[in-house]
Amino acid sequence: MTILTILEFPDERLRKKAQPIAVVDDAARRLLDDMLETMYAAPGVGLAAPQVNVHKRVVVIDVTEEKNSPLCLINPEIISKEGEEESEEGCLSVPGVFEKITRAEKITVRAQDRTGQSFELETGGLLAVCIQHELDHLEGKLFVDYLSPLKRHMARKKIQKAHRQKHEPRAKPGSHAAPI
Ligand code: NI
Repeated sequence: MTILTILEFPDERLRKKAQPIAVVDDAARRLLDDMLETMYAAPGVGLAAPQVNVHKRVVVIDVTEEKNSPLCLINPEIISKEGEEESEEGCLSVPGVFEKITRAEKITVRAQDRTGQSFELETGGLLAVCIQHELDHLEGKLFVDYLSPLKRHMARKKIQKAHRQKHEPRAKPGSHAAPI
């Protein structure tokens, strides 16, 4: 397995729309494994293929404390949404930035698993937030797009400053949710 490089805002490659996976083959499974390793190493709770410059509709997530329940979503689609909830989000492509975002409280997602089998999952809480966040990545959308232009500008400045200093941590442990 390989740890892949995560693109960071405002990299324009994060804006490309991802294409469906036609056949779930060994190459797709290798991508899933590399993405999981990259996500766990970051560390983060979710990663979408466009974040590692692969413009395919592939997402990996693990919201468990133990980091032992990887969820692989290939060609995911949200087929129903219910309610609204605000929660703090971060993103591995927007390091060090955490903001409150409003999303659907409950969702049902349909996707294929690593064998190509189609399944549906109804969920809420952090997992629902994470799935919605990752599916946005497949459309070239970032969580900072929901912020006011001023807040988005501040996020950009913060990342540029971190790049200059190079030693800025991705997140202060314990003070925020894990980036997705
Ligand atoms: Ni993200």
